[in-house]
Amino acid sequence: MSISALEDNNPSQNRQDDFTQLVTTRRSVRAFLPDPVDPELLSKLFTLATSAPSNCNSQPWLTHVVSGASRDAMREALMRTIGEGEFVLDFPYDGKYTGVYRERQLDVGLMLYKALGVTREDKAGKRQAFLRNLEFFDAPHAAFIFMPDWAGIREAADVGMYAQNLMLSMRAYGISSCPQTILGYNADVVRKQLEIDSSQKLLFGISFGYADETRPENQICPARATLSEVTKFYV
Ligand SMILES: Cc1cc2nc3c(=O)[nH]c(=O)nc-3n(C[C@H](O)[C@H](O)[C@H](O)COP(=O)(O)O)c2cc1C
Repeated sequence: MSISALEDNNPSQNRQDDFTQLVTTRRSVRAFLPDPVDPELLSKLFTLATSAPSNCNSQPWLTHVVSGASRDAMREALMRTIGEGEFVLDFPYDGKYTGVYRERQLDVGLMLYKALGVTREDKAGKRQAFLRNLEFFDAPHAAFIFMPDWAGIREAADVGMYAQNLMLSMRAYGISSCPQTILGYNADVVRKQLEIDSSQKLLFGISFGYADETRPENQICPARATLSEVTKFYV
C-alpha cells in the first residue's frame, strides 16, 4: 500500500471513465440481500479506506464492524433502545434544516416515502421506515465509526473522507452501503454491545452488503444542486 503518487501519476482515459462511473453511481442503498461479504474482501475494503487524508495524518477513525451473531445482537439492542425513543448521542444532531437545506431534506424524504408507498399522514409507515435503519435495512454487516474522545469538528472532517473512501471502495467491488446518523442515536448501547469504553465517541454507522436491486427504495436517485449553486471559481 505504498505506491507513491509520483510513481503512478499518469491517469488514463479508462481510469477517468471508471472513476466517473464509480463516484456518480454510488447511492445510499436501503434494502440488502442476506449474502455476507467475504472476510478477506472486508479486510481489503477497510484497508483501502485508511488511505484517506487527515489533519496531521492523525487518522482519527476507529471502526467496529458487526457481522453474524454480533450484528444480530446489535440490531436487537438498537431496536430495544433507539426504537423506543431512548437516545444518547455523542454529537448532537437536531436535523432541523432551513431554507434550501430544508428543501433538499424534504425532497429526499418525499422521494423515499413515495418509493415505499408511505403517505404524508401515514405515521406507522414513517415509523417503520425509521425502524428499518435499526435493522440495517437487512444488511449482513454494519460498521460503527468512532473517533477518540478528544476529537472534534476537524477530525470529523477526516472521518468523513475515510468513510467516503470506504463506500467508494465498496462500490468498486460491487458492494452497496448506506451511511446512517441514526445508528449513532444511542452511543451507550453501541459501546455496551461492542464492549468498549467512552474513550471512543460514535459519529455514525454504515450498513453494507449486496443490494437487493428489486426493491423500490433502491430505485431513488436524489438530485444534486447545480455546480454554480455550490461552487465559485475565481481568476
Ligand atoms: C453522515 C451521513 C448520515 C446519513 N444518515 C442517514 C440515515 O440515518 N438514514 C438514511 O436512510 N440515510 C442517511 N444518509 C443518507 C443520505 O440521506 C443520502 O446520502 C442523501 O440523501 C443523498 O443520497 P445518495 O447517498 O443516495 O446519493 C446519511 C448520509 C450521510 C453522509
